[in-house]
Amino acid sequence: MFRCQDFNYAVFGNPINHTKSPVIHKFFSEQTNIFHPYKAVHVPLNSLYSYLRFFFKSNGCGANITAPFKQEARFFCNQLTKRAQIAQSVNTLKKLDNQEILGDNTDGIGLLSDLKRLNFIKKRYSILILGAGGVVRGILFPLLSFGCSVYILNRTIKNAEKLVSQFNQYGDIRVLKENTSKIEYFDLIINARTNISEETYNIIPSSFFCLKNTHFYDVNYQKNNSCFIKWCIHIGANFFSDGIGMLVFQAAHSFFLWHNIMPDIDCVIDILKKAHSFEKK
Ligand SMILES: NC(=O)c1ccc[n+]([C@@H]2O[C@H](COP(=O)([O-])OP(=O)(O)OC[C@H]3O[C@@H](n4cnc5c(N)ncnc54)[C@H](OP(=O)(O)O)[C@@H]3O)[C@@H](O)[C@H]2O)c1
Repeated sequence: MFRCQDFNYAVFGNPINHTKSPVIHKFFSEQTNIFHPYKAVHVPLNSLYSYLRFFFKSNGCGANITAPFKQEARFFCNQLTKRAQIAQSVNTLKKLDNQEILGDNTDGIGLLSDLKRLNFIKKRYSILILGAGGVVRGILFPLLSFGCSVYILNRTIKNAEKLVSQFNQYGDIRVLKENTSKIEYFDLIINARTNISEETYNIIPSSFFCLKNTHFYDVNYQKNNSCFIKWCIHIGANFFSDGIGMLVFQAAHSFFLWHNIMPDIDCVIDILKKAHSFEKK
């Protein structure tokens, strides 16, 4: 299967070679002086449970779960936090003292923490989310509980409608359709679609944003600017960011669940950003 004698924490996914989680957790471990050996594990499709069982029966204490396993991983857990229960998806597992597995979802709190750090969010903001996939499941409850209203625009309307019917008990959430009556500009537009290379951004009419006031956030992050960030630059947006901060925050909230200590975020974001800009040269 895989050797796990020398680590107690790991991220499980497929593919997994792109992940930055081991680097981020190494920074957290050094910063807090907590012994926290963390590796990335590639899991064949249909093998998640056998891999997790093996890991937690060996010396596994905590795991992160990434695509495509976040939704099925919740059935591996004996208990779920409220936010994981509502999202129906988990990205963090913790072995409890009684040997049971607790599942959590830190994607949403990771995004909300980064939006607050950037000063990109206020209560009662009107938010447009592009996409209706796994990551959106994790971010809706924190955004709605914060007091924002949310519209979802997605290629497959049915997927957006499913999310709206699941989450409308938690706040003001709607599907954005072509015939939706005129909307004043959104305060925040979040791109939560898989990073796509084609220029498809003419689907956002310019009446949906105000260059001076609208904040643009891409949950994706990569060495070179994503298509969405290129578009933000192209239209002359004042406030835009990629998702590197969300990535570090969601990892920090996992670290907190495991060790009850919140690492310092800003220095890790700075190091990753510098590494990115160095790699770009
Ligand atoms: N920064 C972070 O910490 C963080 C955390 C988690 C995830 N992410 C990133 O978030 C992104 C989304 O992840 P996910 O788990 O939600 O993925 P997912 O479940 O596969 O959902 C993908 C979404 O993108 C849309 N989409 C895909 N290809 C498209 C295309 N060609 N044109 C228009 N829409 C398209 C899909 O629309 P349909 O419904 O029509 O298929 C769906 O809404 C990933 O790139 C992931 O790396 C970042």
